[in-house]
Amino acid sequence: MLTQRLVLTGDEAHDKPLIQQAAAIIRAGGLVAFPTETVYGLGADALDSAAVRRIYLAKGRPAWDPLIVHVAEPEDIHRYTRDHSVLTEKLIRAFMPGPLTLVLPKREVISEVVTAGRDTVGIRIPQHPVARALIRYSMTPIAAPSANKFGRPSPTTADHVLHDLSGEIDAVLDAGATPLGVESTILDMTTDPPTLLRPGGVPREAIEAIVGAVRVLGRTFDEGESLPAPGLTARHYAPSARVMLCAPSPEAFYGTLKDTLSRYAFVGAMRPDGWKLPESNRLRVFEWGAWGDWETLAQRLFLGLRALESLGVHAIVCPLPPEAGLARALRDRLERASTE
Ligand code: TXA
Ligand code: MG
Repeated sequence: MLTQRLVLTGDEAHDKPLIQQAAAIIRAGGLVAFPTETVYGLGADALDSAAVRRIYLAKGRPAWDPLIVHVAEPEDIHRYTRDHSVLTEKLIRAFMPGPLTLVLPKREVISEVVTAGRDTVGIRIPQHPVARALIRYSMTPIAAPSANKFGRPSPTTADHVLHDLSGEIDAVLDAGATPLGVESTILDMTTDPPTLLRPGGVPREAIEAIVGAVRVLGRTFDEGESLPAPGLTARHYAPSARVMLCAPSPEAFYGTLKDTLSRYAFVGAMRPDGWKLPESNRLRVFEWGAWGDWETLAQRLFLGLRALESLGVHAIVCPLPPEAGLARALRDRLERASTE
């Protein structure tokens, strides 16, 4: 299959027919990658089980890992999910559209292919205008995981999507780099208090300001226990190079780079602005952004990991962001990427 790249310019007259073309592919049961404000998603008609099965095939995603359903309006959340609490309504009003996914009891129309056999579904309203237009023109909810091969870093550009999925999907809507760069926050509303399944674009502090303290998952589960978010425990978001985390100080960064250069032939550095580097022609550097500017660092995280990987480094050294605000999402992705 030839994957079409539909390049958008931001000019409505130019873009509209291309997004409508993509919507026609969705309606016909095909696969279209599209930008959201977080990362690119790999979309199919959520009400067409055969189309949804093709997502799993293209991604190489295990059948037990459920997909997020993307809708355009708050009313659609009610159409596809049930048993909303007052807290759910408050969260919808506060953060949707936006980078928040709520896990809620599903209604019958959402098939178990989408939810991997669960009776809950993850649902969100993306903020990106292209995502919203695609959902509207498709006139159906769109099931979409991140548009990468299973376990790889999420795609923040159409090039990343094509690198992983060219020839396996019908089209990608190319609207440039995604503004946030990390995935949505996932909150399970079926527990009391709600459980934070994945830190993401909406910081936990902002959610807790509305719903009070949330439950946070530990990292370990008893054997045989079913995982609340199956994709969230395994090694994930990982480039082919080894990710080496270090304490967030210029000294620790320098020391870890020296040590890593003594053990690997080619080393990559996710470098915060101005942090000192050891002298070496075996070092490849990604200029990441100012330490503490989490918006910029989030936007460029997966870009950097993929860029260094494509230069063929064997290990990537990266300082570990703190456990607060948006930095928590970066920290989570890096910890998973570094898991062996
Ligand atoms: O920002 C995002 O959320 C992006 C964009 C494309 O929307 N999507 C995304 O999807 O990151 P994905 O499939 O790569 O990650 C979704 C995670 C998976 O780990 C999955 O296990 C979990 O959400 N999930 C989905 N439905 C669930 C459910 N019903 N219960 C628990 N976890 C669920
Ligand atoms: Mg993913």
